[in-house]
Amino acid sequence: MTTGPSMPDEFKDEAHGRIEVVLVDDQPIVGEAVRRMLSDDPDISVEPILDSVTAMDRIRESQPTVLIIDLVMPSIDGVELTRLVREDDVTSDIPVIILSSESDVHRKVDAFEVGASDFLVKMPDRLELIARIRALAAKAVAEQALKKMADRLQRQAVALDEANRNLQALNVSLESDVSEQRDRLRAIAMLGNELARIQDIDILMERLLTEARRILGADAGGSFLVDGDALRLTHAQNQSQSDPVMLEQLRQSAVNIPVDTSSIVGWVTMENELVNIEDVYSIDDDVPFTFNSSFDESYGYRTRSVLAAPLTGSAGQVIGVLQLINPMHPDGTPRTSFNTDDENAVRHFASMASVSMQNAQLTRSMILRMIRMAELRDPSETGAHANRVAEYALVIYAGWADKHGVPDEVRERERDRLRIAAMLHDVGKVAIPDTILKKPGKLTDEEFATMQGHTMVDDTLFDELLSGYDEAAADVVRGHHERWDGGGYPGNQALERDDHGYLVFPSSPIRQGRSGEDIPLFARIVAIADVFDALGSNRSYKEAWSDDRILSLLQDEAGTHFDPELIEIFIDRIEAIRVIRHKWSGS
Ligand code: C2E
Ligand code: SIN
Ligand code: SIN
Ligand code: SIN
Ligand code: FE
Ligand code: FE
Repeated sequence: MTTGPSMPDEFKDEAHGRIEVVLVDDQPIVGEAVRRMLSDDPDISVEPILDSVTAMDRIRESQPTVLIIDLVMPSIDGVELTRLVREDDVTSDIPVIILSSESDVHRKVDAFEVGASDFLVKMPDRLELIARIRALAAKAVAEQALKKMADRLQRQAVALDEANRNLQALNVSLESDVSEQRDRLRAIAMLGNELARIQDIDILMERLLTEARRILGADAGGSFLVDGDALRLTHAQNQSQSDPVMLEQLRQSAVNIPVDTSSIVGWVTMENELVNIEDVYSIDDDVPFTFNSSFDESYGYRTRSVLAAPLTGSAGQVIGVLQLINPMHPDGTPRTSFNTDDENAVRHFASMASVSMQNAQLTRSMILRMIRMAELRDPSETGAHANRVAEYALVIYAGWADKHGVPDEVRERERDRLRIAAMLHDVGKVAIPDTILKKPGKLTDEEFATMQGHTMVDDTLFDELLSGYDEAAADVVRGHHERWDGGGYPGNQALERDDHGYLVFPSSPIRQGRSGEDIPLFARIVAIADVFDALGSNRSYKEAWSDDRILSLLQDEAGTHFDPELIEIFIDRIEAIRVIRHKWSGS
């Protein structure tokens, strides 16, 4: 990705992380052979251990990504060692591949019984060995991510408590303040609680900006996130210049503002201090920053006063900036400048926002990690497809909500759920083998049947998560390939497990699913967003289609493949869709 927002660094490191394999085999020659087989793969390193009796100590110490254990060894054999690995809390999650000779294949069941993850006969084919190791490593990392996500939901409950406590503390400390300012601060404190519930960082930044502008009375403003060593404008709002295409262009033009003292927001980030400027066209000579007037010039706007405040994380580091422009009276007439009450209010606002921002950023990195896991094998597609599908879905939802008179507070909550669910729509691809996912040509019926399994992982993946987000995500994962006329998949079919706990995929394609409004709204929305994006992108099996061809397919299939009402909404808003596509076109 180049133009779209990038992933948190923490996440990149893990996704491209090395795979450390420990091989326990009493025969040095096997270790050497395996090491040679894996030596072509720059991501995989191998450590051989010859003595199974001391192996446990070394495994505990090195915590490898994947273990390969020989079945027949003196003293402690492979089955016994696997049992020890599973029983030890420190090693219990490490995937184990059992290596056996042809003559011991009958012990496969023993191996799976004690918790082996895979079983290979010596000597395996080099590519197969690499594929199995990679698949197990990806699965292990995905499972860890899920565990962390569950922990995170726990922390979110704590964050809500904290927001509540802040609210109470503030109520006590406010008694002496003058009434107007007191009402503002109280409104901000009340918001803290609501904001802590927002899981999606983009939705949160938009909401922060809207509320800060409302409470302080500002005609325009921008919200920025620190992204590596630069700042990115996540949202721009302007009451007097509200053309969405123009604001989107502004947003695109401000993706890489350096964190230095040459711009207002850069300075705020560097110094971790608030800036209050009465007129940006007569900034004192003794400050290092200048005002970038290109937006004003292009759109005939007059930016006058600017109040910019840092948004900080738990360690005091700046994670974003809130910039408010041109203060107004409640009746909409301009005020001369932001005053000290405004400064205090925005400071308070920033500290209130901090818990929610950290929370939402963590959720985003968790989701991107899961998506990356699913697409680990295909470096051409990253979070960009997921983000585009999510943003298209929001546009469709907004149109639907307008038409059906959905109240604002419901829309807000639903948008947050939809964005996260839509980003996760293809997360089930984590379960699909490389050979199918990356196949350059058309899939056979059987391969396509396996592929359909990516919509049937909902109970495996979302089982343990407890929030309202799971339900939305499960609806979308399960429903995004359903068709309005009932000819889609997977209906209510679930994946079976075999005796060893492996998922069994359908063997012939499902061509009958749910129809009409039995398909959840979010799934019907994402179906359109996904196909629009898939057709417009190069895939390993096809070239991107032209816009005209895509739009005529969507229109032709309204009422058969797609919900006709939603197609109408989509076509009506195609300009907004194009702006989004352009914004995320970098990957
Ligand atoms: P995807 O590539 O993300 O495509 C999502 C959906 O977009 C497809 O769902 C289909 O409804 C639509 N779509 C994509 N390309 C075309 C196309 O060339 N023509 C038409 N009419 N529709 C298209 P579907 O068919 O259920 O496929 C789900 C996923 O299965 C695809 O996701 C892709 O990962 C895989 N897949 C499907 N067909 C093939 C294939 O022939 N070869 C390979 N290698 N993968 C395929
Ligand atoms: C605006 O002018 O609408 C705000 C965007 C910015 O802060 O540059
Ligand atoms: C949008 O995200 O496009 C606006 C949605 C809304 O107004 O609810
Ligand atoms: C997807 O875009 O749905 C998965 C990645 C790919 O097949 O290119
Ligand atoms: Fe899909
Ligand atoms: Fe997709």
